[in-house]
Formats: sequence, structure tokens, C-alpha cells
Amino acid sequence: MPVFKAATVLRLLPIPIVLIIYYTFVQIRIHSDATYFRLPLWATTNAPPSFRTKAATASSFNLTETKSTFSPAMKDFWNDLSLSLEDARPQCPPLQVKDGHPTSLETTFEPLNISKIPPARLVNFTDEHETVLSASHYLMRNSVQRLAPRLVFSKGSQGIVTTANPKYIPIFLVSLRMLRRTGCQLPVEVFIDNWTKYDPIVCDSVLPSLNAACVVLSEIYDTAPNIRPPASYQFKLFALLFSSFQHTLFFDSDAFPAHDPTSLFSTHPYTTHGLVVWPDLFGLTVSEHYYHIAGIPYESPSTRPSTESGIVLLDKEKQRESLLMMVYYNYYGPEYYYSLLCQGSHGAGDKETFVQAAMAVGAPWYQVKTGVVGLGYFEHGKYRLSGLAQMDPRSDFAYGPPSKSHIHPENRWQEAEGGGWEAQVRPKPWFVHQNMHKLNPTRILEMDGTTAKTRSGNYTRMWGDREGVVEMFGYDVERRVWEVIVEEGCRLDEASEVCMKLGEYFAEVFGTVDSIDE
Ligand SMILES: *[C@@H]1O[C@H](CO)[C@@H](O)[C@H](O)[C@H]1NC(C)=O
Ligand SMILES: *[C@@H]1O[C@H](CO)[C@@H](O)[C@H](O)[C@H]1NC(C)=O
Ligand SMILES: *[C@@H]1O[C@H](CO)[C@@H](O)[C@H](O)[C@H]1NC(C)=O
Ligand SMILES: *[C@@H]1O[C@H](CO)[C@@H](O)[C@H](O)[C@H]1NC(C)=O
Ligand SMILES: *[C@@H]1O[C@H](CO)[C@@H](O)[C@H](O)[C@H]1NC(C)=O
Repeated sequence: MPVFKAATVLRLLPIPIVLIIYYTFVQIRIHSDATYFRLPLWATTNAPPSFRTKAATASSFNLTETKSTFSPAMKDFWNDLSLSLEDARPQCPPLQVKDGHPTSLETTFEPLNISKIPPARLVNFTDEHETVLSASHYLMRNSVQRLAPRLVFSKGSQGIVTTANPKYIPIFLVSLRMLRRTGCQLPVEVFIDNWTKYDPIVCDSVLPSLNAACVVLSEIYDTAPNIRPPASYQFKLFALLFSSFQHTLFFDSDAFPAHDPTSLFSTHPYTTHGLVVWPDLFGLTVSEHYYHIAGIPYESPSTRPSTESGIVLLDKEKQRESLLMMVYYNYYGPEYYYSLLCQGSHGAGDKETFVQAAMAVGAPWYQVKTGVVGLGYFEHGKYRLSGLAQMDPRSDFAYGPPSKSHIHPENRWQEAEGGGWEAQVRPKPWFVHQNMHKLNPTRILEMDGTTAKTRSGNYTRMWGDREGVVEMFGYDVERRVWEVIVEEGCRLDEASEVCMKLGEYFAEVFGTVDSIDE
């Protein structure tokens, strides 16, 4: 009966559809999961470990070459920008800062001390310096207004940018695998200086298997004839400038998200401010002279802590002008602006150039108010710090963390103490910046004073006990980090001593791998 047949067909139709969906989507996901989430198999079986990634040989497709090909528009733009940068070169000798670091009194963030003034550590700085520097700054500010509308990026695109030279690649691969384990699918651009730093296995095989690619900076940088070669901290800004994305998340090779960062792009404060940075442990040490040079109002060091620039969110559309001022401050960083903005304080470099550049052009910016938290543990009364945890900017922005006041001298969240804070969502850490003991799989267990071992030499967790880590992050992020370290440390040779040692560590501290999920 035709009617009956049609009904049967209709009833059976969902089966092939489900199968088609399964094979096209679910299988692809499983496949990609397998690429991202490779278990340390030795931990679950006694069989000889065999989890060499399929990325062990270079593919024939030269992805790095493709990614390092820049459009004529970008080359044109960079050529003009580089001329403007050189035109605005300060015509005075490089600034000098007193030897050593500022005192701890000078670098302590004291929000309640309204008489706090910035340190004055510039040596023989005169009015003449100030006049010359402000004239150049003014010139650049004008060029920036002219150049900003021509900034090149792929409209609407979102992605992650970093810089990593060979020394940092093993550390970055740990960060990248941590990123992928959060479920984040955003593309990643890894800037390397030039072709001498190019490793075909890493750039054209390992990274692409994790949806990341190398970009050779010199392919664009060197097209400007009169530009000086970049150095250390400056690479970060050039990576941001030349990345193809509009919405960029930058993180240092030793920083990674503990949760998927994708949603940060579509929520406040990113959508309202277009520049989100996180706080450091120290206070601001910007020289007073900087404000005169930039022609902007003075910001008291009691206003906010200094920026810890290991993680930055930047929207190139909203921050066209600030990005170009950031490039200016960094291009002249080693000679002028790092001294003006940091005065020799710890971690000096690009850290203070982000917010100041936005201030200089009157663009919005948001620095997370919830303080950075140290990751470490106490041993015989001494704190052993390994890294930093940075908070979720969304809940930070939504509720505003408690601020120190004469009533609440501690800026801690105090439970239900008349402040109404119990109704608020206390921001959880979103990022880890493991800046003290970098997670290089071949070195982490061996380096001097490693916090993965107690002083007496026993293996230990680096970030405190499991309960504390789970309460803070919502899951045992440290266990996941070590799964990834093992995965990376065993990638090339699972019979190596490094791999075996990491295995021993994992088994002793975490037991065997049973679950990798949050
Ligand atoms: C990719 O292209 C660059 C530049 O042309 C070259 O130096 C490199 O060897 C190529 N890599 C591979 C794997 O062919
Ligand atoms: C406030 O800061 C000033 C200048 O840095 C310092 O001399 C003073 O001792 C501080 N006051 C308090 C109460 O800490
Ligand atoms: C600073 O100026 C003084 C006096 O002119 C001079 O003796 C000293 O060498 C200068 N210091 C530096 C670091 O240039
Ligand atoms: C490549 O970059 C390094 C700095 O990382 C520099 O010392 C070297 O001169 C560069 N080589 C070329 C060929 O540009
Ligand atoms: C360190 O390890 C040794 C040998 O494995 C063990 O005897 C000792 O109790 C451990 N010490 C601590 C503090 O756990």
C-alpha cells in the first residue's frame, strides 16, 4: 500500500539523517578531539607508550609561507606608518634611569594613600628633554589620526596572537594545548622574527594540527626601508599590528586560559571598551613627565595597579589610534618610553604602553579590578610562587569588586558583611600566567628551585592542594596542565628520559589518568 510505504519511509528517514549528521559532524569532532586531546597512554596501560602525533613529518603545504604573505594594502600602510614613526623620533639622547629597581614603598599599590606620588628616577631629565619629547609625541599623534582609518585587518575576524621564538616554542605548545582543551576553536597566529627562526615541523605540521600557524614578521617588517630592527618586548606590538584579526586576544607564550576565552569577545567590558588588560602585583611607576609629554591629565599612582601585560584583549576597530600609539611607545620603548612609563620597575617593558596609549588618544580602556592572585604554596612558612591567576573580566565589570576603603581596609571579598556582596558573582580566574617557573616539559622538573619539587626534593603540586585549585578554578586545572606537559614532553620520543621522568611525576602526584574533563 503506497500510503503505508510512505509512512514507513517517513518514519525511517530520520535514521539515515542521523547517520549522515553523525558521520559528518560528530566524527569530525572526535577526530579533532583526538588531535587536541592526546592522553598519556602509559598512565592508563602498561603497554609501551605509542602516541606519536601524526604531525611528526612536515606536510607538503607551506602554510607559513602563505600566512606570511601580506597584502599590498598592508605593505603600503606599513610603509607610511614607518615613515611617520621615524619622523617622530625624539631628537634627544636616550633617557637614563637610576640603577637598580624602585623601592618597595615606591612600587606598592596604596589606593588609600592619596598623597602618594610617582617615583622620580629619571637621571638628569631636563625641561629640554620634555619639550623635545612632547614635540615628537605631538607629531606622532597627528600622524596617527591620519593613518588610523587605513589600519589593515580582516573585518569581524576573531583570533589569538602570540610571539614565540624557538626557545619558547615548547612552552607555547603547552599553552596552546591548554587553550584547545578549553574547547576554544579560535585560530592562532604565532609570530616569529624571521626565517632563521622557522622550524618546518613546528610551523607547518604541529601548529596547524592545533589550528595555529607561524607568521614570519620580517616578511612585512623588512618591507619598510628605514625602519630599525625590532627587539625583545617590541615584538608583541608588531604581532598585534600585523595579525590579520580584528578582535585579538594576545597572550605571552607562558600564559594560557583556564576556560574558553571566546565568549569574552562578545561580552562587556570588551564590547564596550575594546581594550581589556589585567593588573600586576605592583603599583604604577609612570613618571610625572610622561603626562606633560602626552598632554593628558595626570593619573595618580593610587588610582590602579600597574598593568601585567601577559594577556591583552584588543579590538582594532575601536582602538585604531591607540594601537598605533602603542606601536610608537614600543618602537621608542628601549630608548625613551619604557623609562618614562616604568622607571626601571620590575617586568619593565611593554606593560605600561597599552593603557597609556589609549589615554593619549582618548580611547576607552578597561583594567580588571579584581586583583591578580599568586599561584604557589607554603613550605615551612615560606611562599613558593610559580605564576599568576587573572580573573574573569565579565563578572569583574558587572559587579565591581570590593575596593579598599576606610571601612574595609582589605579589598577582600568578605562574606555577607553588610556589603551585599553575597549576591555578587565573585570573579573566577580565567587565565594563568606561569611566568616564574615556565612550563617547558624538558626543564620543569630539572631547573634550579623548581616549584614542582619541595626543597627536600619530593615531587609536589605547584599551585597548592587539589581542593583549593578546584574551588578557585572550578576544576583541577593543574592536573590538566600536567597532562599536557606529559603529552608535549613525550611527543617526540616516548622512550626519552624526559618522558619517563614526567611520567613518574604524574603518577606520583596525580595518579593515573581517568578523566580529562572539567
Ligand atoms: C616554506 O617556504 C619558505 C620560504 O619560501 C622556505 O624557506 C621553507 O623551507 C618552506 N618550507 C617547506 C616545508 O617547504
Ligand atoms: C603615602 O605615600 C607617600 C609618598 O609615596 C609616603 O611618603 C607616605 O609614607 C605614604 N603614606 C602612608 C600612610 O603610607
Ligand atoms: C648628570 O649631570 C651631572 C651634572 O651635570 C653629571 O655630573 C652626571 O655625570 C650626569 N649623569 C649622567 C648619568 O649623565
Ligand atoms: C633574524 O632575527 C634575529 C633576531 O631574532 C636577528 O638577530 C637576525 O639578524 C635576523 N636575521 C635576518 C636574516 O634577518
Ligand atoms: C619525601 O620522599 C621520601 C622518599 O620517597 C619520603 O621518605 C619522605 O617522607 C618524603 N617527604 C615528604 C615531606 O613527603
